Amino acid sequence: MKKFYITTPIYYVNDSPHIGHAYTTVAADLMARYHRLLGREVFFLTGTDEHGQKVQQAAAKRGILPKQHADEWVTRFQCLWTRLSISNNDFIRTTEARHTSVVQEVLQRLWDKKEIYLDTYEGWYCLPDERFWTEKELLDGKCPDCGRPVEPLQERNYFFKMGQYQDRLRRHIDQNSSFIQPESRRREVLGFLEKPLGDLCISRPKSRLSWGISFPFDPDYVTYVWVDALVNYISVPGYPDEAYLSCWPADLHLVGKDILTTHAVYWSTLLMALDLPLPNTLFAHGWWTVDGEKMSKSRGNVVDPNEMITAFGADAFRYFLLREVPFGQDGNFSKEAFILRYNSDLANDLGNLLSRALNLIERFSDGKIPEPDAEGGHPEAEEVKATAISLHDSVRTAIAQFEFHVALGEIWRLVERTNRYIEQMAPWNLAKNRKDKKRLDTVLYTAAEALRIISVYLSPFMPNTAEEMRRQLGGFPDGPLDAIGHGTGQTIAKGKPLFPRIERETRVAPESKTATGGPAPSHPLIALEDFKKLDLRAGAIVEAQKVSGSDKLLLLTVDLGEEKRQVVAGIGKRYAPDILIGKKVILVANLKPARIMGIESQGMLLAAGGKEVLGLATFLEDIPPGAQIR
Ligand code: MSP
Repeated sequence: MKKFYITTPIYYVNDSPHIGHAYTTVAADLMARYHRLLGREVFFLTGTDEHGQKVQQAAAKRGILPKQHADEWVTRFQCLWTRLSISNNDFIRTTEARHTSVVQEVLQRLWDKKEIYLDTYEGWYCLPDERFWTEKELLDGKCPDCGRPVEPLQERNYFFKMGQYQDRLRRHIDQNSSFIQPESRRREVLGFLEKPLGDLCISRPKSRLSWGISFPFDPDYVTYVWVDALVNYISVPGYPDEAYLSCWPADLHLVGKDILTTHAVYWSTLLMALDLPLPNTLFAHGWWTVDGEKMSKSRGNVVDPNEMITAFGADAFRYFLLREVPFGQDGNFSKEAFILRYNSDLANDLGNLLSRALNLIERFSDGKIPEPDAEGGHPEAEEVKATAISLHDSVRTAIAQFEFHVALGEIWRLVERTNRYIEQMAPWNLAKNRKDKKRLDTVLYTAAEALRIISVYLSPFMPNTAEEMRRQLGGFPDGPLDAIGHGTGQTIAKGKPLFPRIERETRVAPESKTATGGPAPSHPLIALEDFKKLDLRAGAIVEAQKVSGSDKLLLLTVDLGEEKRQVVAGIGKRYAPDILIGKKVILVANLKPARIMGIESQGMLLAAGGKEVLGLATFLEDIPPGAQIR
């Protein structure tokens, strides 16, 4: 049977692994584990891209041969994947013979089919991107992709007749709406295909670059590193031997948004030329910034996954990556946001639930999971059960739509419901009365059962946590995703807290002063011109939620007509989030963005009151969002 085949990009061995590399690989691991949980056979591939100019230069800088450099560097990726519990089935290095021979085979086939020709190339070359551009393609004389300077170049090279596939590719994208995801990226590729698609230069003369796979029919050339790298997706499954059919076409290529064109256009057209089917889905995720800035070595703000794992554990890091930002969108990393999520979701919600339930079982049931009341549960227990059962569909749907943060939110609904259930049922009171014994047992059983189900759904996201939960619950057999109901009578094995709270100094960031929480205002007179500098706008609140870890702050989405703003407002003690939806408010729209508890606030709402909020400024009339206030 065909396996569920999922890939990550193969990473260059010229850069140390950072949060961006970890992100794609963790997401791919989640998908691989989830599909295994659904009972599918999965082939999950990752690896390293070891040829090309970047690697040759990195090695030259160190004064060693490229292969020696790659041999040393590859272990950084391999070690990180082990530490992050990545469950890949294979790891490809493009310098391995099983790969280089297939690249040559592919080139030979394309040559024989006259898909490749030799021509003199005149144009511009972007060294860091290793891409050629024509004069017309340049933007202000620079690389249209990365904005860096380009060098003039004239040389004889081999070209792949990519342009002839333009219409076929456009049709394929039109007819297969899930081929390129998310939708915004699909439109981006279609936009790219509006312009004439040229042919692709796929060789580099050895006189200029020697570190690559030799052309089988011309020893003076090596293969363009992108063609070399893309072929890994079929070389590993064994192309051209029939074995590759157990994997190909790939179900999912996960990539970052910067390398979508090479996958959606170069790879797709190469596959067409080889008469191979295209992958089912190409998903391009967003990029991480760090404290609001682009991540770069020169800025010194590169997030090292190893440091995060050492400080907080692999699962907490995995959780943050998948929970914090909708997959597909850009996101921001900050230590504050990480610690906030860790303490509220992991230490408070999940960690507490497990230790609480196990303590109760230890105290009131001799450390054994009791039998529930045979006559059925009480309504609250049924509610917990219903929440658990609902995960079957909601988690499946969220993952199918790549909404990993939503899937985790759903699992946390069960965590929260079970925590609330224990409070509602107050087993410590039930234990005082013999006649409540059955009810007490049902509460303990229901809590243990909810935890078991949580651990099953959590296992693709946080495999080690899931395993530890299972161990502390006294172990239970491996089961399919939808098996509800497990044995009773097993002895629990309490262990250390899953996520010890991270204590830190409570600092009040200067930004956390809000319209309502700041110092008492002084009132110097200001000129009209100064007042006019304020851009005050009418807005409609379209989303509102509590900022976890704070009872004062709400995270609001305010619609300004042409754009939406995310605003952190200190009005949580005055208003419950729900009643704010639809309310028309006044936003200071040109306030410098500020970070409040790690979250960016893009403006400030006007409200009456000082430390205590008396009321939000709003309108008598139904003002359209975006209207100016003068
Ligand atoms: N070797 C090519 C891929 C060839 S695949 C046939 C390559 N390698 S890379 O080492 O540069 O890694 C690229 C991956 O890391 C991309 O998916 C890219 O989007 C991702 N990221 C690099 N920086 C990133 C962020 N700051 N945030 C998220 N992902 C980012 O390209």
